[in-house]
Amino acid sequence: MLDQTEVPLLKAMNTYIDDGTIPFHTPGHKMGKGMHPLFNEVVQQKGLKLDLANMAELDDLHEPHGPIREAQDLAAALYGADYSYFMVNGTTGGIYAMILTIAGPGDKIIIPRNAHRSIIGGIILSGAIPVFIQPEVDTELGLTMGVTPETVSEALRQHPDAKGVLIINPTYYGVATDLKKIVDIVHGYDIPVVVDEAHGPHLKFSSRLPIQALDAGADIVAQSSHKIIGAMTQCSIVHCRQGLIRVPRLKAMLQLVQSTSPNYILMASLDIARMQMATEGRGLIERAVDLANQARQEINKIPGLYCFGNEKVGNPGVYSIDPTKVTVTVKGLGLTGAEAERILRHTYKIQVELSDVYNILFLITLGDSMTEVAAMVAALKDMAITHNGTRDFSAINEITRGGKHPVAPEQVISPREALFGNTCMVPFDDAVGMICAEIVTFYPPGIPMLCPGERITQEIIDYCHTLQNAGLHISGPEDYLLNTIKVVD
Ligand SMILES: Cc1ncc(COP(=O)(O)O)c(C=O)c1O
Repeated sequence: MLDQTEVPLLKAMNTYIDDGTIPFHTPGHKMGKGMHPLFNEVVQQKGLKLDLANMAELDDLHEPHGPIREAQDLAAALYGADYSYFMVNGTTGGIYAMILTIAGPGDKIIIPRNAHRSIIGGIILSGAIPVFIQPEVDTELGLTMGVTPETVSEALRQHPDAKGVLIINPTYYGVATDLKKIVDIVHGYDIPVVVDEAHGPHLKFSSRLPIQALDAGADIVAQSSHKIIGAMTQCSIVHCRQGLIRVPRLKAMLQLVQSTSPNYILMASLDIARMQMATEGRGLIERAVDLANQARQEINKIPGLYCFGNEKVGNPGVYSIDPTKVTVTVKGLGLTGAEAERILRHTYKIQVELSDVYNILFLITLGDSMTEVAAMVAALKDMAITHNGTRDFSAINEITRGGKHPVAPEQVISPREALFGNTCMVPFDDAVGMICAEIVTFYPPGIPMLCPGERITQEIIDYCHTLQNAGLHISGPEDYLLNTIKVVD
């Protein structure tokens, strides 16, 4: 019987350092004795002693049979997975491994067009061919929402030979799609559903949050435990359910993307974060939801600001929302999100998670209390008084509504071939007919206009100029002014 109050990895680490063993092994600082005092101030003596390597009794992340295995089994039992694996290079590494598990060179994989760069990275590493599906767009917020079951269904009808479907759920802004329905559709083709659940390691712990991917029937899931619950930065977990995926292949791919010297303090933080969620998770997450809902209510009373919530449920791509992601739309003050971010940081010492053209995003987690939330609301109230202006956003509005959006570019070669082929920079206006070798994305709403391996058309060049002239933010290309573009030579 598994005991969720236990922290097997931390216990094994403490036993090792208490034993008085003289370390003739890595790490070279030898339990802190060789460490420069400057770093000694950063991490105290006990922390440095616990910076250990894979001794027999401390187990091996790549072939676990001792305390790491126990810690991972406890995580699997808590989240309802068949197997769970600790990641020390974030969900990024998890996504690489998940994609490499289901697709190899030339295999098709269905992914949302607004994929995080780690997904594109996984596609490049695997040599797979992406079949892009479009997420829904909320024009009022200028944000991408989820992909709908209908969109997934249509993609599978056109590409029944796809090896799997990858879904981002929930989005950074806490919007969840009808994942259960999507899983049923995809499983109808006998292929796996892979979920980028970077923003959802807490979903399991409140019925007021969207369903977590494993409970919706997903086959492999990566969660950034470090983003939302109490693990150290870089720490994520990959969970899987056997059946439609080959677990030995997943293990092999996890080995491929992770260091042979994983940091034990990071892994211990995952073990402890799991124990914390098992023993107190419900209370902690319910409190975060309550705090976020109170903040939302107060923010929506401030003239010029809007914080979306359950009223969006039922819109295309919005099946449910995670209220702990507090998105504040600031365009009513005549400010861009980036301007509001700077004002909050410099005038009120409030740092948001991110900003985009219309919005700023606050994350409310188990680490917050009414004190922080009250300070955030007070700052927003004051900002709304001191910065209440107007601005003409009509050019951007026009574009987010999708007016003259060009047809999706033709995928000529795989992103991997485009990246590893000979490339050169050419003037953007002369690139008609050439094959793009980089990503070109405009915000809002953050859906790439071009991806590596795609044919550049005159229509796309013209549209990119329209977006630039409207003042949209470009992300991705080496030349961010887009005077030149990287193409396959
Ligand atoms: C949607 C999404 N997927 C994946 C990642 C990568 O996660 P990590 O930073 O844990 O590597 C992020 C990071 O922001 C993300 O937003």
